[in-house]
Amino acid sequence: MKITDALLAEHVVFHNIFDHIEHVVPKLKTLAEVKGWAGLMEGLLLAHGKTEEDLVFAPLNHYLEQLGQRDSFEHEHQEIDNSLLRVKAAKRLPEARQLLLLAVTASRKHFDREERIVFPLAERVMKDKTLAELGKVWMKQRNAESA
Ligand SMILES: [Fe+2]
Ligand SMILES: [Fe+2]
Repeated sequence: MKITDALLAEHVVFHNIFDHIEHVVPKLKTLAEVKGWAGLMEGLLLAHGKTEEDLVFAPLNHYLEQLGQRDSFEHEHQEIDNSLLRVKAAKRLPEARQLLLLAVTASRKHFDREERIVFPLAERVMKDKTLAELGKVWMKQRNAESA
């Protein structure tokens, strides 16, 4: 599988999780539950983001720089992570809910930008063989995480 297809498949899974979070968050009764969702989302996004940074952004650095986008995607990873850390630090339920929903919206936008800019760029400038080799590295990393 090409690395771009693997990451896109992960985006699809995230969108399903986000749909679920948006559905349940307004009904959650305790701060701890909202923080639990933020923690889950943080862990999953960190693994996904790290893979992107190492396997896709890094080799495309030069091309992204030409588009004026060299650091913007990694910045967004940090911003989303920071907003999830703020959920975990929140003292009040309405604030935590709002911050979590903002993080979901920011993540959806971020994925959309990657799908419009980064993944097509990767498919244009990398050989199919390279994309497939990176896909194998992705597979190994995911297997190691679940072992
Ligand atoms: Fe990303
Ligand atoms: Fe992504």
